[in-house]
Order: sequence, then C-alpha cells, then structure tokens
Amino acid sequence: MKFLFPQSTSHHTHVSVSKATSTLTRTNPTSPRATTSPAATQHTQKPRIPTSNFTLNNIELHAKPPSNSPKNTIQNQQQRSEHKLKSRTFTLKKISALNVLALHPAHPETNNLTLNNPTIKPHIRQNMPNPLETEIAGLQLRNPTILAAGILGLTTTTLQEAINHGAGAVVTKSISQKPRTGYNNPTIAQIDNYSLLNAMGLPNPGANYFAQEIRELKKQHLHAPVIASVIGFTPHEYTQTAQILAKAGADAIELNISCPHVKKTGSEIGQNPNLVSKVVKQVKNTIKKPVIVKLTPNVTDIVEIAKAAVQAGADAVTAINTLRAMTIDTETHKPILANKIGGLSGQAIKPIAIRCVYEIHEAVNVPIIGCGGITTHQDAVEFMLAGATAIQIGTAIATQGLNIFKTINKGINTYLHKKNLGSVKQIIGLSHHN
Ligand SMILES: Cc1cc2nc3c(=O)[nH]c(=O)nc-3n(C[C@H](O)[C@H](O)[C@H](O)COP(=O)(O)O)c2cc1C
Repeated sequence: MKFLFPQSTSHHTHVSVSKATSTLTRTNPTSPRATTSPAATQHTQKPRIPTSNFTLNNIELHAKPPSNSPKNTIQNQQQRSEHKLKSRTFTLKKISALNVLALHPAHPETNNLTLNNPTIKPHIRQNMPNPLETEIAGLQLRNPTILAAGILGLTTTTLQEAINHGAGAVVTKSISQKPRTGYNNPTIAQIDNYSLLNAMGLPNPGANYFAQEIRELKKQHLHAPVIASVIGFTPHEYTQTAQILAKAGADAIELNISCPHVKKTGSEIGQNPNLVSKVVKQVKNTIKKPVIVKLTPNVTDIVEIAKAAVQAGADAVTAINTLRAMTIDTETHKPILANKIGGLSGQAIKPIAIRCVYEIHEAVNVPIIGCGGITTHQDAVEFMLAGATAIQIGTAIATQGLNIFKTINKGINTYLHKKNLGSVKQIIGLSHHN
C-alpha cells in the first residue's frame, strides 16, 4: 500500500508503477488477483472470440458444393440449395459483423477483427466513431474513465502510466501553494476488501515544484487531458496555485473543497456555500481553463453546494470526495489513524455517491464527474445512468491495479453493444427518464 499513495514527505518520491501495483497485490492477499502475475492478467484479457472464428466463417462461405455426384439427381439439387442457403447465412453473418465494427470500433473483439480483416480499408477504420468518447467542459475524453485525485498522481511517470493503461483523463494529487509534509503514519487503514480509510494530510511538493511535473507530462503529447487538483487555505491561495498549474499546462483545474481531514481547508470550505462561491469566483476570474469543483458528501444538502459552485461559474462538478469516518483498534483501544479521523472511500460509499450524482443532475446543468467506489463497469454505468458524464476511479486501483481502466472500458463497450447503443453519451442521466 505504501508505494501507491504519496507518503508524508516534503519532496515527492518517484515510484515505478509496476512496483506499486505488485506491492499492492501482495498487501491484499484476499484479492482474487493476489497471485496473478501481470503477464497472466494480460492473458486473461484477450478477446474471447478469436479472429480465426471469423476467418473460419469466410472459408465455409466459399466452400464448394459437393461435385462428385451426378449433376441432376434430386439429392444433388437439394445439396446445392442447402449450400446456397448456407452461403446466404454466412454472408449475413459477415455483414452484421461489419456493422458491429462500424458501431463499436473500440470493442475489443471487433477491434481485433478490424485489424486482421483485409476487407476493411484503413481509411474506413480511421473514420469510425468511438462509442466511448465523452466531453467535459470542452475537454475531449477518448473514454469516460479518469484517475481520481490522490491516487498515483504525484509524478509525471505515474500519471503517464495511468494514461498508458487506458485512462481517459488523469487528476493529479491535490497541490497546495507551499509544500506540505502530511500526517505521521498510519495514514491508511483497510476497512474491508474494497474500502479504505485515509488521512494523508495532503502531502505534496507545492505548486512551483509540481509545475515542473506538469510541464514534463505535457511534453509527452498524451491523448488524455491532465486535470490539476488544487487545495488552499484562502481563496487567494486557491487562485495562486490554480494559476501556476494552469500556466504549466494543466488542461483544467479541479478545486478540492472537500478533503474531510485537514483543518481550515477542503470540506470546511466546501460545506459553506458562501465560501464555495468566493473561491470559485476568484479562480474563474483568474484562469481561462475549465474549473471543476469537487464536492463533499459531508453536508446536509449537496445540491445547495453544487448550485453555489455552478452559479459562481464552475464548468463541471465532481461528486464525491471521501466521507468523514473513523476506525478503532480493539486491542490497543486507540484510533488506528494517527489523525484519528479520516475519509472513507471505496465500495462502501458507492450508494451514497450515486444518490449525490442523481440529486445534482436534477438541479444543475453542467457535466458531473461521478466518483466513489467504482470497481466494475456496472458501477461506471450506474453512475452514468444517474447523470455522470464521466467517472473517476480511486480506491479500486489499490485492489485491481491500473488494468482496471481497460477492464472497465471494455465492459462499458460490451454493455453498449448489448443494449444496441452507439455512444456512451446516450446513457447519461437515463435513470431520470423513467
Ligand atoms: C489515499 C487517498 C488519497 C486521496 N487524496 C486525495 C487528494 O489529494 N485530493 C482529492 O481531491 N481527493 C483525494 N482522495 C479522494 C479520491 O480522489 C476520491 O474522491 C475518493 O477516494 C472516492 O473515490 P474511490 O472510492 O474511487 O476511491 C484520496 C483518496 C484516497 C483513498
């Protein structure tokens, strides 16, 4: 676990992702993937329908009718008409396979067919629409999965790895104007197989230092927007940091007004609509890039806060950050986290997050990024049905590794295919129409 999340340090640590994921796998022996090597994992993700199946159909399609029997016997005529029928069936099969390719070019099974099928010209392949594409405040995402703030988001290398593993966008660790060392350990406690409690204390190297990481990352010309998460103790600090990171090349800013365990910032700002309005207005007046506001569930009415953010100019909102929570060691009789109270994340919070997204979707007219406990493609779809335009994944990376981006995207694609839908945009907010 300790390699995945930024530890209490004033300088960031360069961490290799393979090291990070394998360490994590070992720390969770109950995970079904605990003994699976990366190579074996890749193997299990190969398309279920091999390309040869398709080729086999083509061979059968061109198979000649039996020729060693006399031409005009009744039996031979019957065989010939059976063969014609068979040919037509295979032709139809072939056409329907091509339609699937046109509608679902990113589908892992059809993708393989596309690449290996010489009858499909390269220019046609290029013009195929991508069913997973989505958009948030002018940012084009090749798919709706985003790396959540605070998970592997502190270095160029780890952010790049998340993109290479299929993330449609990445959010950095929350960055403050000055470096922060964070809290003493223990900073993370595992609650169940799929949920964590953390109070890291927002360790980060500060805005000026982190700007170099963003500049470096943007040099790689990656096909995924980089969203810089910003934390501050005053509206001025939020504005200064947002300005530095936007200038360094961040494609958007996510304002963390929702961290539940650091005093005088985060949710202490995000619980007060007047303070939310002040911070969002100042940042919006200073930078030209899209501003996303990350909301806290630790309020009586999240809709009131979402409305305040949108009225102040927020281009999108993220819902939700962690829930204020606690765990106590029954042997020592002491709270486990050094900070005592932390933020609960993972599957345990998913139904709360779904409710928040659903309520916000009814009240505001900006894109919502759903976050909280997303572990499978069904979770991602559920958030989109509630009203999310895209989703963020955090804790599940700890149990499943970075391949989760590909797995979830593959699952969403299959879901769209089964529902006969051409675009993921068609499911956004669909549960409100019932
Ligand atoms: C170890 C850890 C560190 C986090 N750090 C941040 C952070 O720096 N900024 C932030 O906005 N959210 C942070 N979060 C919250 C996540 O971005 C996310 O909102 C939350 O964990 C819910 O999503 P999940 O259930 O998929 O993890 C952190 C979460 C965890 C588990």
